Amino acid sequence: MWTAPALLCGVCVLLTVTRTSCGRTSEHLYNVSQTIVALLDDYDMRLRPNFGGEPCYIGMDITIASFDSISEVNMDYTITMYLNQYWKDERLAFSSDDEVLTLPGDFAENIWVPDTFFANDKSSYLHDVTEKNKMVRLHGDGSITYGMRFTTTLACMMDLHHYPLDVQNCTVEIESYGYTLLDVVMYWKEEFPGPVVGVNESELAQFTIMDHNTDYRTEHLATGSYRRLTLSFLLARNIGYFIFQTYLPSILIVMLSWVSFWINHEATSARVALGITTVLTMTTISTGVRSSLPRISYVKAIDIYLVMCFVFVFAALLEYAAVNYTFWGQKAKKKPKEKPAPPPKPPAPETPAGKPGPGKADGVPPSEEIIELQDIRMSPIPSIRQRHNSKFFSSQSSLHELKFPPSFRINRNYLSRSMSISQKHQSSKRKIITTLKKKASEIKTKIPSIQDVNIIDKYSRVVFPFSFMLFNLGYWGYYKTVDGNPGSSGGH
Ligand SMILES: *[C@@H]1O[C@H](CO)[C@@H](O)[C@H](O)[C@H]1NC(C)=O
Ligand SMILES: *[C@@H]1O[C@H](CO)[C@@H](O)[C@H](O)[C@H]1NC(C)=O
Ligand SMILES: *[C@@H]1O[C@H](CO)[C@@H](O)[C@H](O)[C@H]1NC(C)=O
Repeated sequence: MWTAPALLCGVCVLLTVTRTSCGRTSEHLYNVSQTIVALLDDYDMRLRPNFGGEPCYIGMDITIASFDSISEVNMDYTITMYLNQYWKDERLAFSSDDEVLTLPGDFAENIWVPDTFFANDKSSYLHDVTEKNKMVRLHGDGSITYGMRFTTTLACMMDLHHYPLDVQNCTVEIESYGYTLLDVVMYWKEEFPGPVVGVNESELAQFTIMDHNTDYRTEHLATGSYRRLTLSFLLARNIGYFIFQTYLPSILIVMLSWVSFWINHEATSARVALGITTVLTMTTISTGVRSSLPRISYVKAIDIYLVMCFVFVFAALLEYAAVNYTFWGQKAKKKPKEKPAPPPKPPAPETPAGKPGPGKADGVPPSEEIIELQDIRMSPIPSIRQRHNSKFFSSQSSLHELKFPPSFRINRNYLSRSMSISQKHQSSKRKIITTLKKKASEIKTKIPSIQDVNIIDKYSRVVFPFSFMLFNLGYWGYYKTVDGNPGSSGGH
């Protein structure tokens, strides 16, 4: 039982951490070394296998390790992968058995290897931690598996017409650099588990890999015809980021601009500020979007959306300009009519001379005061309004009849509370107020005509949201149906 070879085997297993099995002795190992030396002895690595005869067939398979990044600005993507090449070199056959020798990558420097390159490669590097990620596996019949792991940045010309609702077709193009179809023919290795693995496990933040395809074609170049293998990935951009970063803010800003239609048209500062703020915010949003994109001249889907949002926001501002113009235009027409019209009732003497009012208004006839008051109410300068409000409306809740816009009512109430401390001028004010009450009816008659201007606002409240909704339906309907059919978007 304890024969010499068996004992030797036990010793060799203990001493060397090699995958020798029983029956393989140190003599065998020595023989293998001798075999390799003998193989390379009269081997000319400059000549391809089967030189001068049939072309050498080279099988390819790829395992995707990771998708690292995709850049729209540089129009490329970075990918880490294992590439295995399979071919048969009769000169390296060393045994009729199914023996396999796995050799370090350096061995490839001593034998012929295909000059495979990536036609759309921009930069690549082989990983070399801890050693060069490369291997050569030699089979007894001369079949060779040549594997390596590397990271490569590949050009991918993206069509951004539908950005960010686009689907990109990025490819890996593999070709022999020097050997034409007469010398080298590449093919995708179809055996299990298929030519490309690891695609559905890879994750990309920005994209979803919808599909991948392997294909080949003959590339006719000036130096001859070459076989080119193509692996294409169909990448659909994840819209979520853009929904939260661009679309939703834009929609909200457009909606914010409509708030203006519900603000009284006399509140000039409020409505102009709202309009300008929304316009500027839209500008900021579109600047942010542009910074992450190359300077493409054609119109992208996101440009259309942002420009339309900008138009909506701008239109809301213009709407106020129209409302304001109509309002002041009407007022200008009415003013000359009214000035001669009011009969000069003489309430002026009612004001006691000894207790002059706090302002200059005492000497002014009330009919003019009303007009002036009205002007002041409409004045865009709040300080003027407040000054006059305090003068006329202190501590009188009855004046709500005057139907002032709500925004001023708050002001007035606040001021009236603070002003009511000064009771000195109460009596004189009351007299003014009685005259005001008389004139209130006159103002009331005016108010309906003023509110006629609001018709623009009233229509805008419906027309703006409705047309924005219509635009959104058209936009999303168009781009969703186009992208539902990936062939059409990747094609051009
Ligand atoms: C080693 O090679 C010699 C001759 O080349 C042969 O006689 C011997 O059987 C070989 N040994 C083994 C273990 O293969
Ligand atoms: C990837 O695809 C293969 C074959 O289609 C399947 O067996 C495997 O479960 C998939 N892996 C994942 C993570 O989806
Ligand atoms: C992607 O591009 C490759 C190479 O140009 C082509 O063969 C493939 O059909 C394209 N895929 C789609 C879905 O358009």
